[in-house]
Amino acid sequence: PSNESVTIVEMAPRDGLQNEPGEVATADKIALIDKLSACGFTRIEATSFVSPKWVPQMADAAAVMAGISRRPGCVYSVLTPNMKGFEAALAAKADAVAVFASASEGFSRTNINCSIAESLDRFAPVLKAAKDAGIPVRGYVSCVTDCPYDGPVEPGSVAKVAAALDAMGCHEISLGDTLGHATPETIAAMLEAVCAVVPPERLAGHFHDTAGRALLNIEASLGFGLRVFDAAAGGLGGCPYAPGAKGNVATEAVDASLTDKGYRTGLDRAALQDAVSFARALRSPDRATASPAAVAGG
Ligand code: HMG
Ligand code: MG
Repeated sequence: PSNESVTIVEMAPRDGLQNEPGEVATADKIALIDKLSACGFTRIEATSFVSPKWVPQMADAAAVMAGISRRPGCVYSVLTPNMKGFEAALAAKADAVAVFASASEGFSRTNINCSIAESLDRFAPVLKAAKDAGIPVRGYVSCVTDCPYDGPVEPGSVAKVAAALDAMGCHEISLGDTLGHATPETIAAMLEAVCAVVPPERLAGHFHDTAGRALLNIEASLGFGLRVFDAAAGGLGGCPYAPGAKGNVATEAVDASLTDKGYRTGLDRAALQDAVSFARALRSPDRATASPAAVAGG
């Protein structure tokens, strides 16, 4: 794939910091995003407009959005689970928003306190309001192979939720291995089903690296035609409602692996190394080895 472009969507400020047990200062979050902006990312997920009772780590979302220096050409997105979140995102001038569903009922209930069907009903007005405001909406599907509460997840269940988000108007569906237990085989079975209902050009891969297989899962996804992958600088991350799940696959490891394969990511290696060092320093000491790929990547 000589010189073919692959987009890395940077997750550290959102998926990375949402699970940090220690308090991270708003100024540090802003500094992290500014350092990431210098790397040349075209998409950075900056924060979440969610209930501060559920995820206190993201309670300063408005202050973070107000404090960052926006690099022209970079889209700063935020999570919005409902209209309250969407209105706050609009006020904060987010460039893009994301709704998040689950392929499993157990995780849906635990993460957003409603069934899958109820979550889709909640997202419908967000999609409509976003369309009126000209704001693109990404749709996440969590637990695409395994659920911490329900066990293995059927590929058909993932396809059903992905198709529903697609029909609602999401420009892209990000498929999340929330737990980080997927294998290239379970990813292939899942993508077989999902690509039949949403074209791979509108799918993204979102892999947590709990079992150290995230890079292999990206490789399997590349084979299905996916060209957008989520990753977090320094391998930060995890979901507070997915016990045992570790960080997102490390951006620096994904960048190195894609570059080795001949893909272009458009990232500045030196700037990325600086952002990675900063991101790692924000982690609590007991989580310093969260992502095996981060460790392998030095
Ligand atoms: P609920 O308790 O059912 O909601 O939570 P509610 O509507 O009954 O509201 C309860 C309280 O929350 C009220 O406040 C609301 O105003 C407030 P009170 O009257 O009690 O003072 N509230 C809000 N506050 C700020 N912003 C909002 C908002 N909405 C309600 N948007 C809810 C339902 C969805 C709100 C809650 O469960 C929630 O916020 N969940 C978010 C969980 C989360 O952020 N998880 C991590 C992100 S998902 C993820 O990491 C997976 C991903 O990375 C992909 C992957 O790896 O698979 C994307
Ligand atoms: Mg995640």
